[in-house]
Amino acid sequence: MSLLRKKDVSAMIAASQNGTALNRNLGALDLTFLGIGAIIGTGIFVLTGTGALTAGPGLIVSFILSAIACGLAALAYAEFASTIPVSGSVYTYTYATMGEIFAWMIGWNLILEYGLASSAVAAGWSGYFQSLLGGFGIELPTAISAAPGAIPGETTYFNLPAFLILFVITALLSLGIKETKRVNNIMVVIKVAVVLLFIVVGIGYVEPSNWTPFTPFGWGGVFSGAAIVFFAYIGFDAVTSAAEEVRNPQKNLPRGIIGSLAICTILYVVVAAIMTGIVSFQKFAGVDHPVSLAIQMAGQNWVAGFIDLGAILGITTVILVMTYGMVRLAFAISRDGLFPSFFSNVHPKYQTPFKATWVIGIGSGLIAGFIPLNVIANLVNMGTLAAFVLISVAVLILRKTQPELPRAFKCPGMPYVPLAAIASCLFLMFNLSRETWMAFLIWLLIGLVIYFTFARKHSKLGLDEANASVEFAATKEEK
Ligand code: ALA
Repeated sequence: MSLLRKKDVSAMIAASQNGTALNRNLGALDLTFLGIGAIIGTGIFVLTGTGALTAGPGLIVSFILSAIACGLAALAYAEFASTIPVSGSVYTYTYATMGEIFAWMIGWNLILEYGLASSAVAAGWSGYFQSLLGGFGIELPTAISAAPGAIPGETTYFNLPAFLILFVITALLSLGIKETKRVNNIMVVIKVAVVLLFIVVGIGYVEPSNWTPFTPFGWGGVFSGAAIVFFAYIGFDAVTSAAEEVRNPQKNLPRGIIGSLAICTILYVVVAAIMTGIVSFQKFAGVDHPVSLAIQMAGQNWVAGFIDLGAILGITTVILVMTYGMVRLAFAISRDGLFPSFFSNVHPKYQTPFKATWVIGIGSGLIAGFIPLNVIANLVNMGTLAAFVLISVAVLILRKTQPELPRAFKCPGMPYVPLAAIASCLFLMFNLSRETWMAFLIWLLIGLVIYFTFARKHSKLGLDEANASVEFAATKEEK
């Protein structure tokens, strides 16, 4: 039964209400901004190209399908987040509700989400950075412009810009420089502005003939496209990480999650329609800056330059959020004893998990340098979808096992919505490639090995329980 040992939910809620010194000053609008800040990035600016090559103009439908899966999962996620509004991701929630082994497996999947997402997003950043440099006539040597195998027909060894941006972000985070609400808000305005600029300028160049055939690769292509562009929606869960700073979190958290997701869905669907309307989708083969390329092909070079710049700035904040999320997740898991204590060491001067930040940052940088974006992004999608499935299961279980917990936001349509979330996330998972599944299964296996050889023995909860039972036995003997 020790596999299912759980943290105490009411103690966690009480600690979050009394113990923190954080000001509760974020409202629903701030959270929506926070969500959009974490969501809009490489997915829309880069992976739409890959998505279009897989689905054709049917990519528009792919975005809608993916949004439906995300929206259903978000409703379940929001119930979870509003029930236990403490900082820390679903890993912490699961520890309190389903027990240690589930928490570990969710945490292990979230490492795929956050850890690899920062690599993938940095690789996307690199494409736009090089496109901007290209606008000034500067070209990087091909060998250091992309990961091996990333550009068909080219010999590439390392994605140097992706590595370097992660290096800079790591340096900032290790010194304790966090993104502030103000910087985030500015970035969100810039990101949304360049997306709107693309829409307003691009719409005039749409040739409806480019939309036929609409599904050149059949519905199978549309479904695979949905599994690929799912990446574009990842990040709405960042909203929950601010739980302890939110006014009336029970109401505002779900509003922030669902609000940011809804706005992004509308923007994505319109961008996909215009992109595939301006040029034939085949033109996106081997292109790592498809949004600006589409507008360039419409003859709008200046607009393309602005889009490059906006994408670079906007994507940078996503790298920051993802890397920060990963470091914090490793910190939380390590504090519980399931990871080596190294990851929760705090630097005496900077007050940050300094060493962990560098290990994670450089690791992500090397992955971004050596592995092509599509491969990493698909693995991120797999890990995230798996985590969403587990969360939806957890919501169903929690309703049965702890019906009395106050839930300000109740997932509507119980149990159908979480069940539909599980089904749609599994559906997207099964539309990912066989290689992604192989890599994912190996990842899960490694996770189980680490749990049984290390984490289980070092679990703080386990050690506390063991100490308590020794003390109990000693008191009994004294009597
Ligand atoms: N949704 C985030 C992005 O597209 C991860 O960059």
